[in-house]
Amino acid sequence: MSLGRFITLEGGEGTGKSTLLAALRERLEAAGKAVILTREPGGTELAEAIRNLVLHPPEGQVWSSMAEALLMNAARTDHLEKKIRPALEAGSWVLCDRFADSTRVYQSVQNGVSANVLKLLESSVLGATYPDLTLVLDAPVDQAAGRRAERGGSADAFELRDKTFHEAVRQAFIDVAHSEPARCALIDASRTAEDVAEAAWRQIEQRLGGFSGDAS
Ligand SMILES: Nc1ncnc2c1ncn2[C@@H]1O[C@H](COP(=O)(O)OP(=O)(O)OP(=O)(O)O)[C@@H](O)[C@H]1O
Ligand SMILES: [Mg+2]
Repeated sequence: MSLGRFITLEGGEGTGKSTLLAALRERLEAAGKAVILTREPGGTELAEAIRNLVLHPPEGQVWSSMAEALLMNAARTDHLEKKIRPALEAGSWVLCDRFADSTRVYQSVQNGVSANVLKLLESSVLGATYPDLTLVLDAPVDQAAGRRAERGGSADAFELRDKTFHEAVRQAFIDVAHSEPARCALIDASRTAEDVAEAAWRQIEQRLGGFSGDAS
């Protein structure tokens, strides 16, 4: 049994990560792969409990960037140990909605934690388990906000920040993609969901390959 592959989806709120995740699952399963969908923060019972604390802090309370960075990394440790690594070892393809790049971005923008500290935490927690491919979804902030508004639902602690924050997040994700081109593919997510899925699939085929009917 060969190892599975680890693909992460990153980008600002409303860029279409969750939508793309579902489309990629279908395509991978059609290609004969065992697929596991998961998300961050979260993915395991303990990590979901941390997610709730981070995204919905008690009324009137705000986490500092450093506290958030530590909580995200604590959640990620549990997620890697209990879900992601076992799934990869069992040969599954793991598709994760947000991962370590979201911590690089959200916990550093607007005078957050220094990149050096975040990198040290990241490498300590990930060890050898870096994604094989990271799809970074990029769309104009207003377009992404419009999609979120149409989707409805209640806003969490990150969604409530202002437009300057979302512009900084967008640029920081672009910077991540440019800084690690071997791992990351920047995807223009302003197009239709079908076109975005097609572009993402092309990246998966080119970079991770091996879909010519084999089920390995
Ligand atoms: N390419 C697209 N074109 C138009 N609408 C889209 C596209 N992709 C997703 N949507 C719609 O936009 C909304 C947000 O998409 P989605 O929930 O996938 O984004 P997300 O990146 O997962 O957001 P969040 O960060 O808030 O979880 C949904 O209503 C979805 O149906
Ligand atoms: Mg989502």
